Parts: sequence; C-alpha cells; structure tokens
Amino acid sequence: MFWPVCPVDVRLTDPKGGQNAVRAWLDSPRRLLTLASRSRLAALNLAPFLTALQGDGHAVQLVTDIPVNPTVDDVAALLTRLRQQPFEPTAILAIGGGSCIDLGKAVSALYHVLEKPTPQAVRDAVNRKAYAQPHPCVELIAMPTTAGTGSEVTRWATLWDPQEKRKLSIDHAQVFPRGAAIVPEWTVEMPAALTLSTGLDALSHAMEAYWSVSRNPLSQELALLAAAKVRDALPLALAEPENEAARREMSLASLLAGLAFSQTRTTACHSISYALTLLHGIPHGFAVALTLASVMRRNAKAVPEMDRLFAVFDEREGFEVWLEGVTHGVQPLCLSAFGVAERDLSAICEAAFTQGRMDNNPVAFTPADVLEILNENL
Ligand SMILES: [Fe+2]
Repeated sequence: MFWPVCPVDVRLTDPKGGQNAVRAWLDSPRRLLTLASRSRLAALNLAPFLTALQGDGHAVQLVTDIPVNPTVDDVAALLTRLRQQPFEPTAILAIGGGSCIDLGKAVSALYHVLEKPTPQAVRDAVNRKAYAQPHPCVELIAMPTTAGTGSEVTRWATLWDPQEKRKLSIDHAQVFPRGAAIVPEWTVEMPAALTLSTGLDALSHAMEAYWSVSRNPLSQELALLAAAKVRDALPLALAEPENEAARREMSLASLLAGLAFSQTRTTACHSISYALTLLHGIPHGFAVALTLASVMRRNAKAVPEMDRLFAVFDEREGFEVWLEGVTHGVQPLCLSAFGVAERDLSAICEAAFTQGRMDNNPVAFTPADVLEILNENL
C-alpha cells in the first residue's frame, strides 16, 4: 500500500520561470518572510526578484542569517524576532539549501503554536508534536539552490539540539511546501565540496528508499532512476561545474530521490549519520555516504531485488569503485579524514540508533554491527 502522490506543486525551470511560478503562487498580498543568505542573494542576483515581489503588493521581510544545520536555539531566536517586530508572516519563501528550507518549515509549523518561543519551548513542542494539532501552518514556498536534500518535496524538517545531543524531526503533512521552484542553473554556483556532499545525499536518499522496509514498486523505480542519474551526472558536474545539462540531471535526480524517500523515509545510513554530524560536525551528505557501501552489502541478503541496484553501478565497475572515483580529489570519504578516531566510535555507536530510521532498515543492526560498519570506514 502506498500513496503515489506528492502534494507539492513542483516546477523544474529556469530562473525567470521559477520567479514567475512563485509570483503566481502568491496570488494575494502577503506578509512574506523571505529566508536567503546574503551570498545566495548576491550570487543569484535576486534583488530585482525581491523588488518585483514588493511591486506585487507583498510586504517582504528578509532574513539573511541562515544557519547551517538549524538548531532549536536558531528557531527560537527567529520566532522571537518575528514576534518582537512584530511581523506576522502569512507566507514564507525559503531560497537556499536544505538548512534554509528546513528553517522555513520549522517557522511554518511552530509560528502559531508558540506564544513564547524559547529554545526549551521549541524542544518541547517538537518532542510532543504540538505542531500536529489543528492549527494554521504558514504557507511555505521553496526555491532550492543545491541539488540533493529533497526537502522541497518532503513532509519533514530536521532540527538539531546540541544541548541534548539529539537530532529532532518535525513531521507532518502540513509541512509539505505549497510549491517548489527548482532552478538547476542556480546550482552552478555551488563549490565542488557542496556539489559532492549534496549529490551524495541525493544518492543516499535513492538507495535507502530502494532497500527500506517501507519500499514499494514506485519508490524503487524512482530510486533506480535517481541513482543512475547521479552515477552519470555527479562526476560530470564536478569535472565541469558550469555544465548546465549535468546540473539539470542532478536537480532531477535530487527530485526523483526526494519523491522516493518521501514515501519510505531513510534507513541505517541516515540514522548513523545524525551521530556523525552531531558529535563531529561532518556535513550531512558525507555523513550519510560514508556508510552506504557497508550498509548496502549487509542489506543485500534481506532484499531479493537488490541486484537491480548493484547493476546501476556494475556498469561503472561497481559502487565502491564509483564512489572512490567521484570523491577523489574533493573529499576523502573515511571517518579519519573528518578527525574521527577509533576511541570515538563507541560514543557514535551509542547515538546512532534513531527511531524511525534504524528500524526502517531491512536488516536489524545491533550496536556490534554498527561498530563494525564504523570500523570498516575509519
Ligand atoms: Fe539526507
């Protein structure tokens, strides 16, 4: 049983088409909270777009300090700022990578829930799913500037809680964006390490959707398409950063993988990755890709149709050879390259079991299995 419908109005288009889609979605005057870093605004020359939105009658409130991996403190600070001004947003436009879109989702879900948005109040509200009670979420529009997170087509947002050393998840159908304007041309601006990490995140979404306990025929076909696109387009996008065809393929791969894992959720690789990011600051895409090969090998025995996923990379001498090739010269993909030592592994292992992710893996891993996987990738 699966629900093969994505409720997000998605456009894969050029900059003008993306901007026109956003203007059409905002069909009446709004108080528009716009989240976009200064560097994105400048690199993508977005000032005329924001002026056009104001010309359409929207009151635009621009927030440019977009944190990487937003925390409960970041969300509390932004919500407090909006209350104090006061600026009651009636729509949110998030222009950026996964962190920016997730910050937008958090504001969307929590703005009408929290009167006094302290970090503790945000933590409590997320833990007890206060955002799930019937209430108006603020309408969100996403314009991704990376190709990988798929956040524009999922119903969840990741927040981090460094104090309690936990990754939190907002998870509700109301969190789906109203629309997503995907502009591959914008991803040309990404430096190599970001192209690689976000591309590997997309690949992880595809592969984990493929073998997930919750897999279904549709998610698997989407996942195979996405994996094949990443296989061909990611090396090309790294070798020729301005190759628009490769960038378009990566945006499409990210979208297909996003649609796949929006139905299944992720598995052991993402579960382990949260500990790697939380405890050692490893960027998300690298943190998930680090264990892909080890987890894939172990999962093969529980997923009869795994041959089709192996076959995607057999055309390139197998997955591990491909992975080594694509990361070469950009980022060595082993834990020690990120400063992780053998003595750190037991703490990572302890924090690696995320409910809803590890138990979504087709093989039930024990702490000893996870330790072995970490050791393989030291
Ligand atoms: Fe991810």
